[in-house]
Amino acid sequence: MSILLEIKDLHVSIHDKVILSGVNLTVKRGEVHALMGPNGNGKSTLASVIAGKNDYNITQGEILYKGNNLFDLSIEDRAREGIFLGFQYPVEIKGVSMTNFMKTAINEVRTYQGQKPLTATEFLARMEEKKKVVGLTTKLSNRSVNEGFSGGEKKRNEIFQMAMLEPEMAILDETDSGLDIDALRIVANGVNTLRSSDNAMIVITHYQRLLDYIIPDFVHILYEGKIAMTGDKELAVKLEEKGYDWVKTKLGL
Ligand SMILES: Nc1ncnc2c1ncn2[C@@H]1O[C@H](COP(=O)(O)OP(=O)(O)OP(=O)(O)O)[C@@H](O)[C@H]1O
Ligand SMILES: [Mg+2]
Repeated sequence: MSILLEIKDLHVSIHDKVILSGVNLTVKRGEVHALMGPNGNGKSTLASVIAGKNDYNITQGEILYKGNNLFDLSIEDRAREGIFLGFQYPVEIKGVSMTNFMKTAINEVRTYQGQKPLTATEFLARMEEKKKVVGLTTKLSNRSVNEGFSGGEKKRNEIFQMAMLEPEMAILDETDSGLDIDALRIVANGVNTLRSSDNAMIVITHYQRLLDYIIPDFVHILYEGKIAMTGDKELAVKLEEKGYDWVKTKLGL
């Protein structure tokens, strides 16, 4: 399997506060990585740095995406190159219907990749297919993007957007927060349907529960600015059982 994303000794700070201090992570196509860790330990920061959001200071290290320096790409170009970030707190876009929003987003990527824009018929067919994947109702997809959506609806919508865009590197930040059990299953099902040998995903979560549905290939614990532990699904189970004090003891901190 080919390497899609390679993070090497990444150090990141915000206003002189060090957040990441030597993150190493290699993500190959076909893999799903779960990223766990206590509040405020830099999970969302790492996701933002990959997606190109905010003005963090990258003080050391590098990220290669498809073998090239990721930091050479603008936010827009990262999205066009197949990076998708689902927000921990999705934004509302007033007055823009989801249909129009998705059509613009998809055709922009297609143009960048030298493909023809989808015709109206092709686009609607893809909408219908992907709506089924996440159980999104037409009532919801006809509304403005995220406007007045409940927390669970926003999360479902986020997975829908991911399904529509078919990204190569998807990063989902706490997609399980505030989801009821049915919605959780639908979101997980969406993720599992989109899983393929061509793409890869990083799923940031606090709960082992989500990983019962999305079986990750790797579970990483981001602790005090570094990936302190890596394992499989069992690591998440252990963490749920023992808490972060166990990690601390194990690391000799
Ligand atoms: N713009 C900012 N200005 C100042 N501090 C920031 C900024 N963004 C993030 N931080 C700080 O960086 C640290 C890491 O935040 P981050 O959001 O990455 O944590 P997290 O691991 O995603 O936490 P959670 O599990 O609560 O989502 C926190 O202490 C946070 O307050
Ligand atoms: Mg976070």
